[in-house]
Amino acid sequence: MAWSERQLAMLREMGVRMFVPVRPSAPAPAPAGPPMAALAPAVPASAEASAATPASAPSAAGSLDWAQLRAAVAACRACRLCESRKQTVFGVGHPHAHWMVIGEAPGAQEDEQGEPFVGAAGQLLDAMLRALDLSRAAQGEPARRVFIANTLKCRPPGNRNPQPDELAACEPFLRRQIELVQPRIILAMGRFAVQSLLRTNEAIGRLRGRVHRYQGVPLVVTYHPAYLLRNLVDKARAWEDLCLAAQVVEQNRTDDATC
Ligand code: URA
Repeated sequence: MAWSERQLAMLREMGVRMFVPVRPSAPAPAPAGPPMAALAPAVPASAEASAATPASAPSAAGSLDWAQLRAAVAACRACRLCESRKQTVFGVGHPHAHWMVIGEAPGAQEDEQGEPFVGAAGQLLDAMLRALDLSRAAQGEPARRVFIANTLKCRPPGNRNPQPDELAACEPFLRRQIELVQPRIILAMGRFAVQSLLRTNEAIGRLRGRVHRYQGVPLVVTYHPAYLLRNLVDKARAWEDLCLAAQVVEQNRTDDATC
């Protein structure tokens, strides 16, 4: 990939040294652990099939269109986080973006504004994306667009860690978002997003540098931008991860063109 002056300037601004991607992507291993259905909230089959199932129940998300899904998230009361949230944070970006970024959960500013990654971590994320000529804008060329979502749509009080039951309750929403976007690549940021999507307890350091899959979509693991703000040395590794993700998208584009 040839970098423009603008991209190089952006990288310098981020304190990131240039990375030459050389690592071939390994064949994607199937995620270890229970199948997706095992994480969905337990709903009796009869209740799930029932027309009376409220559209706001996360388990009913699988058939919803964008507008219905947004409404279901806004109305969700499936876990305790609905008690303390100011508003739900659905996600932002192009509905058919080629890239999908998945973070952990809204923080205070996101809870206030209703949009993911709007604080300092979000500014770093946007700078990293800009360096690859990507943006969260809802219009434009899908290949240059990102849809940003979180594993949790509601802020955990005091920014505490997401709890397993909260992640499980919210996952059908994220799963449906991925089905609707149909991204070419998922970038999973931070321990909670990575471990819940890949069903693993492995550390990010052991999972990065290769291509995983979620619902058949290639997934690359990287550090959370909030962590990168405190750990400058890992910024270079995060940049490597973005380059790997870009490589996967580029490779798939080339494969598509030759089919
Ligand atoms: N951290 C996240 O993981 N998501 C946000 O939306 C904001 C901060």
